Amino acid sequence: ATADTIDLAVIGGDGIGPEVVAEGLKVLDAVCDAKVARTEYDLGARRWHATGETLPDSVLEELRGHDAILLGAIGDPSVPSGVLERQLLLRIRFELDHHVNLRPAKLFPGVKSPLDVNSVAPQGIDFVVVREGTEGPYTGNGGALRVGTPNELATEVSVNTRFGAERVVRDAFARAQARERKKLTLLHKHNVLSYAGHMWRRTVEEVGAEFPDVTHDYAHIDAAMIYLVQDPSRFDVIVTDNLFGDIVTDLAAAVTGGIGLAASGNINPDRSTPSMFEPVHGSAPDIAGQGKADPTATILSVAMLLEHLGRTAEARRIEHAVAADLASRGDQVRSTAQIGEAIAATLA
Ligand code: NAI
Ligand code: MG
Repeated sequence: ATADTIDLAVIGGDGIGPEVVAEGLKVLDAVCDAKVARTEYDLGARRWHATGETLPDSVLEELRGHDAILLGAIGDPSVPSGVLERQLLLRIRFELDHHVNLRPAKLFPGVKSPLDVNSVAPQGIDFVVVREGTEGPYTGNGGALRVGTPNELATEVSVNTRFGAERVVRDAFARAQARERKKLTLLHKHNVLSYAGHMWRRTVEEVGAEFPDVTHDYAHIDAAMIYLVQDPSRFDVIVTDNLFGDIVTDLAAAVTGGIGLAASGNINPDRSTPSMFEPVHGSAPDIAGQGKADPTATILSVAMLLEHLGRTAEARRIEHAVAADLASRGDQVRSTAQIGEAIAATLA
């Protein structure tokens, strides 16, 4: 890639994935001064039904050659649960070492929250979650015996390395340092998950010494569920493990206006592989093919993609365009394409 070309891999995927990605690409084309060269990859349920393939090694190798990946969503009720998630989505995240799973949670003006924001969050809601993306209980370290019998045994081991914790904690501190409030909160459960929990706690304390201008605190994950609903303004940057991060970001999306707005990046900060940007939501089979999906989460994911590529001004322009669109939305019902076109039009 050169400075004025973005070599983009596009995985529309299943259900509403291709619908929302199409709108994300419209916005990318409208805002971006660079030439965007796209390569579309047919991955997901359709390919699995046709060929039995999830992620062929040759495709994984091709993906490594791009500057970034834009993903819609993967998953379909016609495929056994776990097949596409583990063999396709998690495999990309693990093989490309996407250890920083970055998920902003911001309540934009004009967006309805199920919370009574005036009373519980008068200072607004604006935090980011740095979820560890390559370890925890998601590594597939486990097994089963005597499956389907009354004596069935199943284990699912949470893998936590000091190296893995330290690199995301350092990334989270750096992000906190760049933000106005400069505050980091570790979420874990070290009173019960003592081995991993104390390793994370010590890692935050030790790395925190390198960032004297950033304050840090800690909350147990269960208490954090209460705070997210009763006092969400307390959070600025959250750092946590893979599973807790998965759960906390769904609640974070819910309190900031819903899953249709929640963006994410699967980031390899050392840039030796392409990072992957995707809405937090799934393939939404219940509304697929009806033009009902909100493409905003994907459009905000495109902004994160541009930011990661150093195109900060273009990222900010998308965020402003989305904020303006959200502020004027009210109760109007628009299709997926109408929302995408309206936002793209303000950027052209
Ligand atoms: P989901 O996020 O697809 O849908 C949950 C609910 O939110 C549904 O009612 C859906 O209609 C709604 N929704 C989702 N995105 C929306 C949007 N952009 N606009 C408006 N409404 C939206 O989660 P669900 O139903 O648990 O999973 C469906 C499939 O997606 C499963 O196969 C699951 O494994 C997969 N999945 C894939 C993910 C990914 O590709 N990263 C993430 C989460 C789920
Ligand atoms: Mg999730």
